[in-house]
Amino acid sequence: MTRLRDEATGPKAFRELVAELTTLLLYEATADLPTIAQEVKTPLAPYTGARLAEKVGFVPVLRAGIGMVQAALALIPEAQVWHIGLFRDERTLRPIEYYNKLPSSATVQVCLVLDPMLATGGSATATVDILKKWGAKRVKYVGLIAAPEGVRHLSDAHPDVPIHIAALDERLNDKGYILPGLGDAGDRQFGTG
Ligand code: PRP
Ligand code: URA
Repeated sequence: MTRLRDEATGPKAFRELVAELTTLLLYEATADLPTIAQEVKTPLAPYTGARLAEKVGFVPVLRAGIGMVQAALALIPEAQVWHIGLFRDERTLRPIEYYNKLPSSATVQVCLVLDPMLATGGSATATVDILKKWGAKRVKYVGLIAAPEGVRHLSDAHPDVPIHIAALDERLNDKGYILPGLGDAGDRQFGTG
């Protein structure tokens, strides 16, 4: 996390760190996913193992959530990936939806929202609203850095959604950026700052 925050870290290393941290966070976030028995045969004997009982959807929030997808798919290759496009209006800090191609009813039971930054919480809350209307039975949020304001907003609106983050920072500045944070997660991943 220290290297991720460091302004001297360039986009390539930044993307690698986002992926590594995503792997660690998802280990925790998926630990309670229900499993069912699966019979296999080792070369020596039958064995009863386990496989995931529910269909899992990863929901990266464009743009910054894209950087978490490959690491997530490495853990659960059979997961579906549903992209949601939101950006924050710089003046109001409210999320504006610009991309959503979800089919009319839910195709997965559990959704893991992937977005590195939970700032005001507007984008995360809007994403969970969309997923619940879609019919997702269970939603979890996975991010890298949160402000207390964002955690409060998301958990007031959706108390049933667990929040998995790597760091809880101090506060937001007057432009809605997390302090100390890491700056703009999308710009730092994609070299557009
Ligand atoms: C960032 C981030 C979140 C949002 C968090 O995206 O990736 O989606 O801000 O802020 P909030 O909690 O106050 O809603 P941004 O709107 O900058 O879009 P981008 O990823 O396309 O740069
Ligand atoms: N979005 C970011 O990328 N960084 C912040 O600090 C807040 C919102």
